[in-house]
Amino acid sequence: MLVTEYFPKDSMKDKVVFVTGGGSGINLGIAKHFAALGAKVGICGRRQEKLDEAAEELRSFGNEVFAETCDVRDYPGLQEVIENCYESLGPIDVLVCAAAGNFPCPAEVLSPNGFKSVVDIDLRGSFHACHASVEQLKETKGCIIFISAGQAFLPYPLQCHVGAAKAGVDNLMKNLALEWGKHGIRSNSIAPGPIEGTEGARRLAPPGTKDLIDEQIPLRRHGTIEEIAQVAVFLASPLASYITGSVIVVDGGQNLPGSGAGFNVIQQAWQEQSGNPG
Ligand code: HXC
Repeated sequence: MLVTEYFPKDSMKDKVVFVTGGGSGINLGIAKHFAALGAKVGICGRRQEKLDEAAEELRSFGNEVFAETCDVRDYPGLQEVIENCYESLGPIDVLVCAAAGNFPCPAEVLSPNGFKSVVDIDLRGSFHACHASVEQLKETKGCIIFISAGQAFLPYPLQCHVGAAKAGVDNLMKNLALEWGKHGIRSNSIAPGPIEGTEGARRLAPPGTKDLIDEQIPLRRHGTIEEIAQVAVFLASPLASYITGSVIVVDGGQNLPGSGAGFNVIQQAWQEQSGNPG
């Protein structure tokens, strides 16, 4: 589905969108959707090569693009990049705090530094981006979109570090909605489920498990990058002008408590006993 079929092609014209970790995956998909609607897009990330490739792709939409390397954990470095983006594109209208790190690891094996790395990238990195952009967002009465995850509100095995980080992200999102609403700044999260073709899905699901995971999802499939990006566009659009402090869950129903393991055992037993495939 093309976002331009549903939103006027120039609906984000002259808007400035800055995406942390925008060099790949869902984050680049979000940047591309905004670019397709006429936005000027800024991205940052740790790897120059990935960033250069992404910037080239984004330029093909015909609008100005800014891309500079930094690590969101390094506040002065990120602050400089955000200032450079301002010089290049103007004040940020839409800040997407999307840079994230993840790997599966049991809590008892996870080193304190492993826990810290993920919290530092996801949570502190998100705060850094907001703090460095707030004066620009005040100027534009802009909005912030955080990329959260189901781990923020449900415990997942091997994900204590991510759960802690993303729960913090959603709490930060709500605090900023409360504090910065008076400046006209909206703050919301998107919590994606498993999204096909992403680094996150590759890291979390061992090879050969996709079909098994799909069976556990009420909509019986992974989501797509487009399905996340189009929600980001909606949240940044005037259609969402009264939405702030919300987590929009975009996961095919994966994180509904009723789709958990216990439910499946009950459903299977009922099917066997009743002979009804349900
Ligand atoms: C256990 C691990 C580990 C692993 C790293 N560590 N990988 N521990 N299992 N697989 C530990 C290291 O041993 C080290 O601790 C500490 O973490 C820091 O590791 P470094 O490699 O030095 O850190 P760094 O280079 O900063 O890399 C950060 C990272 C890495 C998070 C560890 O994986 C990364 O750069 N990720 C970015 C890309 C990414 O993760 N994309 C997926 C995002 S998906 P010690 O004690 O040895 O020093 C996503 C979605 C979430 O976030 C929700 C999905 C539904």
